[in-house]
Parts: sequence; C-alpha cells; structure tokens
Amino acid sequence: MTDLLDVSTHFRFGQNWADYSKLVDERRIADARHSVESLCGDLTGKTFLDIGSGSGLFSVSALRLGAKEVVAVDIDEDSVATTRKLLTKEGLENWRAERISVFELPDRIHDKFDVVYSWGVLHHTGAMWRAVETAASFVKPGGTFAFSLYEKTPLCGFWTQEKRVYRRLPSPVQTILRWGYHGAWAAALVVTGHNPLRRWREGNERGMSIAHDAHDWLGGYPYESTSPREVVAFMDKLGFDHRQTVPYRIRLGGLFGSGCTEYVFRKREEAAAKPAPKRRTRAKAG
Ligand SMILES: C[S@@+](CC[C@H](N)C(=O)[O-])C[C@H]1O[C@@H](n2cnc3c(N)ncnc32)[C@H](O)[C@@H]1O
Repeated sequence: MTDLLDVSTHFRFGQNWADYSKLVDERRIADARHSVESLCGDLTGKTFLDIGSGSGLFSVSALRLGAKEVVAVDIDEDSVATTRKLLTKEGLENWRAERISVFELPDRIHDKFDVVYSWGVLHHTGAMWRAVETAASFVKPGGTFAFSLYEKTPLCGFWTQEKRVYRRLPSPVQTILRWGYHGAWAAALVVTGHNPLRRWREGNERGMSIAHDAHDWLGGYPYESTSPREVVAFMDKLGFDHRQTVPYRIRLGGLFGSGCTEYVFRKREEAAAKPAPKRRTRAKAG
C-alpha cells in the first residue's frame, strides 16, 4: 500500500494537465461534455465521483450536465490544483477536489455515488485490478461505473520500458523524443491517406490536445493494459452488468502505442457480488 501512494516513480501527469488547461475553451468543454454524456447518460440530480480528475475538464462537464454534486480526486497535487482552478474559473458550485489516491478512498470518502467516472486512470496506479475493484466499490446499487483502460497490444512490453525511461529524462530530451514521435506519426498518417495537420488542429473527440496526449502517452507510468474480455469477466464477479464497450482499435500492431477502450457498467441492485478473482497486484517500482 505504501508503494502505491509513492508518486516518486510516477510520470508527472499534473504538470502536463496544468499546461493543457490553458487551452480549455468552450469547444473543448463541449467535446468533453458530449463524451461524458455518451457514457454516463443523463446526470441531472446525480452525484458524480471523478477519480483521477487530471485537468478537471470532466468534472466541469458533469456539473454542466446537471450533476448535483461532484467529488474530484487525484493523486497528483498539480492535477488537483488544476482541477480546482478550472472549476473555479467556470464559476461552478457543489464540488470539491482533493488530493486522494484511489487506494485511499475507503478511508477518506464515506459516500457512495450515482456515477463513478475514471477515464484513463486506473491503469496508471501500479495495481490496476485493485484500483478497478476499489473504484467500483463507490458505486451505489443501480448506479453507473464508467471508465477506460488501455487496450493490450503486442508492443505493450516495449512501451512500458519506454515510459520507464522517458519519465526520468530531462525536459529538453523529452521534447526531442516527442517531436520524433510526432514526425513518425505524421508520416504514418500521410502514408495511410490522412491529413496530420487536420488531426493536430482538431485534437481528439474528448477535447484533448494531440501534443499533450503524446507527452502523456510517452511518459505515462505506471502502465498496464487489458482486454474487454478480461474486464467484463472481472466486473461480472464484482456484481456489475455490462452496458457498453467502446473499443479502441489497435493501429499498426501498437507501433505508435495503445489507446483507451471505454467501458460502462451498472451495479446490480442486489449487489450480489461474487468475490473478485485473486490477482497479484504488486506496485511496479521504477
Ligand atoms: C491520463 S490522466 C487522465 C485524467 C482525466 N481522467 C482525463 O480523462 O483527462 C491520469 C490521471 O490519473 C491520476 N492518477 C494516477 N494514479 C492515481 C491514483 N492512484 N489515484 C488517483 N489518481 C491517480 C494522474 O495523476 C492523472 O491526473
């Protein structure tokens, strides 16, 4: 447990979010809002727990979608500060943002939520399945658990080692590597008949930015990945019905990395959870 709270081996996600947050505008909020709505449905009057809030964009979206209360948590103090700043700037009420790891939630938060949302987070904790199980325990019976996890590719082993190295490099070296990655990515897009400039300008459908996503991808450590089959079986044992999977389509065998498959589950009313499958969940030290 102590290892899992030690962020010294983690990529500095929060610094990246602080920088990204300068780009947040109405278009990005609208894209993020659409993404949250498509997974979580109508949030009017619902309570919403945002685990690994990052920039805070999705907490903003939940409140804009009518959530009655949002609790945003993140292990990285810069992410928490950015989340607070964005929620304050947007003039929103009925939220709190705290520096809490998913693993500390049972000791720190005593409510259950209508919706638990954790996008692109639980695979960065050092103990993915334990994180999924802990996050799931905060969903009310009948409530929704929406999350995303990296899709397993043949090259995940390589990318884990790459992240382990990248996160320790001096910033100028990271910048050089990032531009090399962008160059190769742009060349692959041109060869496959796409326009890299258009993709760069548009960002992705969640209101993110390609530049910040690349830094997050190259550095995002700890790192784990999985497949829909494993996730659906695991959630069934926790007492959740599967509602939706939005699969990430692996490109070029994972040469440029992986992406997140999105999942939506509903907690069974009777909460007849069978015990979770036993897994070894030791933290990955750097
Ligand atoms: C890739 S970002 C995703 C942020 C946001 N959910 C989004 O969709 O933009 C992952 C976030 O998870 C946070 N995180 C990593 N480990 C965590 C943990 N154990 N508990 C809570 N947050 C964690 C990181 O600090 C980072 O802000």
